[in-house]
Amino acid sequence: MTRARTILVGAGKVGAGFADDPVMARHYPYASHAQVLAEHPRVEWGAVVDVDPAVTSRVQERWGVAHAGRTVAEACVAYAPEIAVIATPPDERLRVLAELPTVRAVLVEKPLGLDEAASRAFLDACRERDVLVLVNIWRRADERLRQIARERDAMVGRVQTAFVTYGNGLHNNGTHMIDLVRMLLGEITRVRSAPESLTDAHGPIPGDVHVAATLTLESGLTVHLAPLDFREYRENGIDVWGTHGRVSVYQEGLSTSVYPRVDNRAMTGEREIASDTPTRLDPTCGRAFWAMYDNLFAALDGQAEPCSTGESAMRTTRVVDLVERSAREDGASLSVDGGG
Ligand SMILES: NC(=O)c1ccc[n+]([C@@H]2O[C@H](COP(=O)([O-])OP(=O)(O)OC[C@H]3O[C@@H](n4cnc5c(N)ncnc54)[C@H](O)[C@@H]3O)[C@@H](O)[C@H]2O)c1
Repeated sequence: MTRARTILVGAGKVGAGFADDPVMARHYPYASHAQVLAEHPRVEWGAVVDVDPAVTSRVQERWGVAHAGRTVAEACVAYAPEIAVIATPPDERLRVLAELPTVRAVLVEKPLGLDEAASRAFLDACRERDVLVLVNIWRRADERLRQIARERDAMVGRVQTAFVTYGNGLHNNGTHMIDLVRMLLGEITRVRSAPESLTDAHGPIPGDVHVAATLTLESGLTVHLAPLDFREYRENGIDVWGTHGRVSVYQEGLSTSVYPRVDNRAMTGEREIASDTPTRLDPTCGRAFWAMYDNLFAALDGQAEPCSTGESAMRTTRVVDLVERSAREDGASLSVDGGG
């Protein structure tokens, strides 16, 4: 099995820093790209780039990466990467790609760009060069969530409704959760937000907002999206109610429960969901980054479809943008595919 020459561009928190969080390490063996790059059998991690030299020194020292620099050009004097992991802030992606003429695949952090036009420009540049794009919306690679997507009907029957919480920003974690709705429940065709709920997100993306919204799916299903203030506690969660069961994914993927439909304990002839006696499923989110790399190589080998494509990420971004726009347009009902 050959190893692909790989460069990490942007070695901040998700690039490498999360590897230093001892609490995270208890639940997420692979919380950062560096941890996968250092161990994955298909990766030769040969270069790291960050505008902050203290960051590259730390990464070189800890992980033994051969080439480092403040720019791609500096790091690649004697290295021609085939794979680039781009974990810079979103405004840098297109410029970074232009400096990497030898890559044939990129694993890029979300969001693809600062707005839809910039994201599109990045994807166009990749397409023109025939560069495979995978976007690290990692829930798409999480085996437990993939199982729910596959076995949803058997687990819960026909979905009747779903509730989603997110925090630290609509454009930040809202992106992950709206993408998860698409992954588990189907395409979103229309959004309508509650304008009174629009507030500052107090999250890591300047200007990001919080807003409650309803999402209408192609199937006609309505999904309810509500923000939580992460200064109080965190929860990016989803709770799906079907005709003969319920499945919930809470504690950000660490707690998955399936609840069957049973006889109602208090009314003859009625039924209830056994919300107090779920079957717990072991979490797999701690290995989702690793699984994303497995998928990248399987896609490069022609053995699997990429699980989180650029076009899919673009659609999620469009929904996210419309959720904010609906709130600013007094709760207008907006179509994701245009046409009113
Ligand atoms: N998929 C996820 O779960 C997840 C989690 C966290 C962050 N992210 C995303 O990853 C990206 C980075 O987030 P972060 O929290 O790691 O940010 P960060 O600020 O901790 O890290 C970004 C790093 O990029 C470096 N950088 C900036 N411009 C650069 C350039 N031109 N070339 C090389 N390095 C450059 C910075 O010095 C910094 O070290 C964001 O887009 C964020 O939304 C995704």
